[in-house]
Amino acid sequence: MQVIESKTDTSSPQYLENYEAMKTRVEDLEKEMDRARNDRSDKARARLAEQNKWPVRKRLELLLDRNTPFLEIAPLAARGMYDGRVHGAGIVSGIGVVEGKEVIVHANDAMIKGGTIYPMGVKKGLRTQAIALENRLPLIYLVDSGGAYLPLQSEIFPDADDGGRIFYNQAVLSKKGVPQICGVMGLCTAGAAYIPAMSDEVVHVKGTGAIFLGGPPLVRAATGEEVTADELGGAGVHCRLSGVSDYLAEDDGHCIELIRRIVKNLPPAKKADVGMRESKPPLYDPREIYGIVPASLSLPYDVREVIARMVDGSEFLEFKALYGPTLVCGWAHIHGYPVGILGNNGVLFSDSSLKATQFIQLCDKRGIPLVFLQNINGYIIGKEYERGGITKDGHKMVNAVATATVPKFTVIIGASFGAGNYGMCGRAYGPRFLWMWPNAQIGVMGGEQAAHVMITVKNDQLAREGNSPLPEELVRRIKEPIVAAAEKEGNAYYSTANMWDDGILDPAKTRDVLGLALSAALNAPLRSDAYGYGIFRM
Ligand code: COA
Repeated sequence: MQVIESKTDTSSPQYLENYEAMKTRVEDLEKEMDRARNDRSDKARARLAEQNKWPVRKRLELLLDRNTPFLEIAPLAARGMYDGRVHGAGIVSGIGVVEGKEVIVHANDAMIKGGTIYPMGVKKGLRTQAIALENRLPLIYLVDSGGAYLPLQSEIFPDADDGGRIFYNQAVLSKKGVPQICGVMGLCTAGAAYIPAMSDEVVHVKGTGAIFLGGPPLVRAATGEEVTADELGGAGVHCRLSGVSDYLAEDDGHCIELIRRIVKNLPPAKKADVGMRESKPPLYDPREIYGIVPASLSLPYDVREVIARMVDGSEFLEFKALYGPTLVCGWAHIHGYPVGILGNNGVLFSDSSLKATQFIQLCDKRGIPLVFLQNINGYIIGKEYERGGITKDGHKMVNAVATATVPKFTVIIGASFGAGNYGMCGRAYGPRFLWMWPNAQIGVMGGEQAAHVMITVKNDQLAREGNSPLPEELVRRIKEPIVAAAEKEGNAYYSTANMWDDGILDPAKTRDVLGLALSAALNAPLRSDAYGYGIFRM
């Protein structure tokens, strides 16, 4: 296979400037991740120790096979929301390896408001279940939760995608044969009681674990009955009397050990065969991506330079290299897995859209997973292009992306604007996973453009009424808040806080994350039986 020959001059002032800017962004990301992992109050730490419970990270560390990677999902969910300290939305979720099998874990963090579920916690739970279902990954719940975060109950409970959906999904996962194992490692109160109840197998920790529909305070208030948590729903009650729980664990360590034995007992995963080959590193250091990607999204660069630092041996068979040059398409391997890559090299024109459509069909037909490297301001606009059928050609690409059934993975490596987001497999187009780089921006359009549109609309309105255009001062006053909002809300951190993505990645680690995600995705059949496309407008 041909090799991408890099033209990057790693000693140029531009490269060095870019490198420093991205390095600073990655360092900021690491600080954010560290805060999300470790910022807990002394009170919460002391309470956990008093109860003889382990912190959630220790539970995970002992659950997962030693020296295996953990692909954490949405570690910065809910960043800056609520009181600013509901890190990760109060849940640690991620894909890891237990007894040699890939699983997904969903664990409450009892040091964040007693593990209670915030609205973003519900969203994270649903996302975890969606990943389990799409990739057929056994799901392990480590429950330690006071149930709904009551001050926000109206945002958690009533709607279709609220808390009730978690238990609905558990029934669906069960029906589809996705194993669900639950460790009761603290309270499972009210709604949270249904998590063990709806799981296949339940391990219950003596003394600290309890399951009940109404906790002791509610029972006291409703019936006047005085009862301890252990008497009401402890391990003895549920393992000996009610049959809600299946295994009694002496403590956290024993619970983890039992869960590992249950996972070992599951039938072996039948992974889809994609025709892997031996993995080899790229010819160029992935950290050089820092120097290639400009700090400003408006500066162009060749996405092949990024691909060269992401794929095995920097080998890339480019498809239609001379046609539709604003989209680079081609075949490569990532950690031994074959992939079809689509990377933006400018706005999408009719030719680049048609090329994408053909390429997606080829990969889908051959069972080759798709990787989208998204850096796109949108499809080309203007009279000439409308007459040339850009909307019709863009539609073909969007149609193919939406209905391709091979696993799709999206990394937003720069801009993600307008319909370009759709054509390049944004969240609504069902990628198995979607990540952002720290420099990425997302929105209908950039702030400057949005402000320009609003000012033009206003001036047209004034002209219709026979008035003169907006004075300079008013233009500034309209523009500033629009630009500020677009910058804040289009930012990668805002996106990840809202879980529009699965996390922000260090560009240098993207190749490894893609490798883990590809491996996880192969637990499900490679292509759905529903292979096929709708009508392509010709
Ligand atoms: N909603 C909002 N906040 C809650 C909460 C809930 N359901 N349950 C607990 N909290 C808060 C507490 O106010 C406390 O906040 P603080 O740190 O600001 O003081 C924090 O979570 C920890 O609670 P605490 O009771 O001190 O810790 P604990 O480890 O002894 O017990 C629980 C934790 C969750 C087991 C216990 O608080 C409890 O039983 N909560 C009520 C559960 C319930 O009935 N939920 C019904 C929901 S449907």
